[in-house]
Amino acid sequence: METILMAANDAAITAAVQLLRAAQVVGVPTETVYGLAAKGLCAPAVDGIFAAKGRPADNPLILHVADKDQALELWKDVPPLAEKLMDAFWPGPFTVVLPAGDIVPANVRAGLPTVAVRCPAHPWMRKLIAACGFPLAAPSANTSGKPSPTTAQAVLDDMDGRIALVVDGGASRMGVESTVVAVQDDGVRLLRPGGVTYEQLCKIAGSVVLDDGVLQPLPADARPASPGMKYRHYAPQAQVTLYDGPPQAVQATICRDYDAGQGNTVILARGRPARYAPRRCYDAGADAGEYARRIFGLLRRADDDGYARILAEVPPCEGMGLAVRNRMLRAAGFRVVHANEIGNDKGEKQL
Ligand code: TXA
Ligand code: MG
Repeated sequence: METILMAANDAAITAAVQLLRAAQVVGVPTETVYGLAAKGLCAPAVDGIFAAKGRPADNPLILHVADKDQALELWKDVPPLAEKLMDAFWPGPFTVVLPAGDIVPANVRAGLPTVAVRCPAHPWMRKLIAACGFPLAAPSANTSGKPSPTTAQAVLDDMDGRIALVVDGGASRMGVESTVVAVQDDGVRLLRPGGVTYEQLCKIAGSVVLDDGVLQPLPADARPASPGMKYRHYAPQAQVTLYDGPPQAVQATICRDYDAGQGNTVILARGRPARYAPRRCYDAGADAGEYARRIFGLLRRADDDGYARILAEVPPCEGMGLAVRNRMLRAAGFRVVHANEIGNDKGEKQL
């Protein structure tokens, strides 16, 4: 199949609607990351997404809607707290998991009794959903397991020849995927941190339970609250190691490990990359929001540049730092070095 690339304009809306109506898969921009969209309530169209991504059939998809009214048609039993959260964070990087209505095909929800729904903020994507008149199922547009795409080029790198159309809406504004929450009678459970922070959620919900899978590897026999937690994720070819601890100790330990290594290594710094000169270093940004915007592009770039190892500084778990930590822990397969004194550490933990 030939993959066409179009700019995110009205002509692309017409082309995308035509393809989506015909049960095809289209690469689309959103404010979080690029998505692979298909007609969301049409099981064969949704199968096309799983095939293009090579995604395991037991990992469910998010349905993207134009507004809250369209979302309410997809669920049964919507508690008032869920509506309050939607009113606060939609349109935006926020996904709600609730019991699914009968119209949601089993493959969208991977057989679960619940379905995840999001109303995205990207103007072109909103226009597309409105023009379609039906919800769009859309996972991130990467090959399963790889870092999510934040540019149309990254979508093409994974999907060229596998889907009919990629629409270029520029670099993704957030850079990491949406925040996913399950809302139950007893409150809100955070399943995946993202563009809406834990602190923002607490302001609306009062308290929020952080699911164990957000910052810890799940035991092999665990049944995760969100199936996506159990898969190796966001991983480049290069081996990623995270360094945690006081900034000076982290810097000294990274330098020590870089210098002791076999070469072919790059450092991911939180700002001021000159600290690491003359070692090779990418700047992920001092601010956690900046790190979030750059993270997936830099993981992909490390592979393009042929590096075998990435030694990474990571921000504290506040604000957007929690989402960055969650993605980097998975990219690293939970390999973390705890640096506590200058040039010293408690050793590498492969959890
Ligand atoms: O920002 C985003 O959410 C992007 C853009 C394209 O909208 N989409 C995205 O989709 O990240 P995906 O499929 O890559 O990630 C969806 C996550 C997965 O970890 C999946 O396991 C979880 O949401 N999920 C989906 N449905 C669920 C459900 N019913 N219960 C629990 N977790 C669910
Ligand atoms: Mg994904």
